[in-house]
Amino acid sequence: MAAAVFTLGCFLFVVASASAQYFELKNVNQLNEAKKFQKIVIRNLQVPAGVTLDLTNLKDGTTVEFHGRITFGYKEWRGPLVKIGGKRLNIVGQNTARFDGEGQRYWKGGRNTKMLKPRFLEAIVDDSKITNLYFLNTPAMAFLCNWCHNTAISRITVDNKAAGDGRAGRAFNTDGISLGYVRNVQVRDSYVFNQDDCFVTGAGEDMLVENLTCEGGNGISVGSLGNRADVVKLTIRNCKVINSLTGINIKTEIGAVGLHRDVVIENIELKQIHQYGISIHGNEGNGFPSAQPTLFSLDRYTFRNIRGNMLGAGGVNVWIWLHPNSAKNWRWENVNVVGGKGTMFRPPLTCKGIPGNLRIPCAER
Ligand SMILES: *[C@@H]1O[C@H](CO)[C@@H](O)[C@H](O)[C@H]1NC(C)=O
Repeated sequence: MAAAVFTLGCFLFVVASASAQYFELKNVNQLNEAKKFQKIVIRNLQVPAGVTLDLTNLKDGTTVEFHGRITFGYKEWRGPLVKIGGKRLNIVGQNTARFDGEGQRYWKGGRNTKMLKPRFLEAIVDDSKITNLYFLNTPAMAFLCNWCHNTAISRITVDNKAAGDGRAGRAFNTDGISLGYVRNVQVRDSYVFNQDDCFVTGAGEDMLVENLTCEGGNGISVGSLGNRADVVKLTIRNCKVINSLTGINIKTEIGAVGLHRDVVIENIELKQIHQYGISIHGNEGNGFPSAQPTLFSLDRYTFRNIRGNMLGAGGVNVWIWLHPNSAKNWRWENVNVVGGKGTMFRPPLTCKGIPGNLRIPCAER
């Protein structure tokens, strides 16, 4: 009787340890084998040029852990360099892990280059957690979550300091964190030093961005993808934008169809902004900034507790350039951005489309 119990105990022990096994990926040819496991460890991997580290079709509930330095061969292509897809995933970087894009190899072309540059990491996940991923020197966009649902993203670092603060214009299209067509997604406790939008969404529902620090780039953006892509229920709070071209950038494109509704932007600190402290314009695209704005509904927008300063007198503290029927149901409370005199704009910037009930000081000179 005692022996039987002992045998059973052993048997259970073996089963338990088998299910705790993980696969350590040594090269991308092992991906199919790795995807049979619930845990995949990726350490110091060199991904060949033009190949995506394809972590799609993972088993439900898979953990992927990144360790060490993950690098990518050089190829001019669209990427992504890493793709992640699945449900109930737990995607984790160890503290010293780096996705090293060696972006310097791509940045030399400047703004008008026709060079194709790979996007870095694209996740299409449901009910998942993504945390502690560190992107060094991204060739182009760093982190994208498109069609993600019920997903918590935290402790993302984008470090393109090697390209400087962007005024030299070296690392274009290096958007930091992008959300598109998501539902119920949070981005928290993250840091982006780049040369394009720090955070951007052009479509999605129920998004929270909290404790994001942005440096060197184009600030926090709410955009439009047009084609009836809407941004509904977005809160951006407790964030900082430092030494950036724009602080907060609400931009919808000329001819865009869609709407933004229930957007709250609060407790934001802007420091040393170069061009626009807060820009809200409906004419992104050719002819910016003077082109006429398209009618695009910005409904139930709240701007609250936004304070900051401009770097020198060249920029403007607040600029609003909207179709007269775009802004509806706005709150503008305790917004105080100072220092800009607009001297870099000829002709001087003017505003339009400010809701009549609000006293918003515009394009101060
Ligand atoms: C905010 O995010 C940073 C990472 O950029 C982190 O170090 C810090 O602990 C976070 N603050 C809070 C209050 O969670």
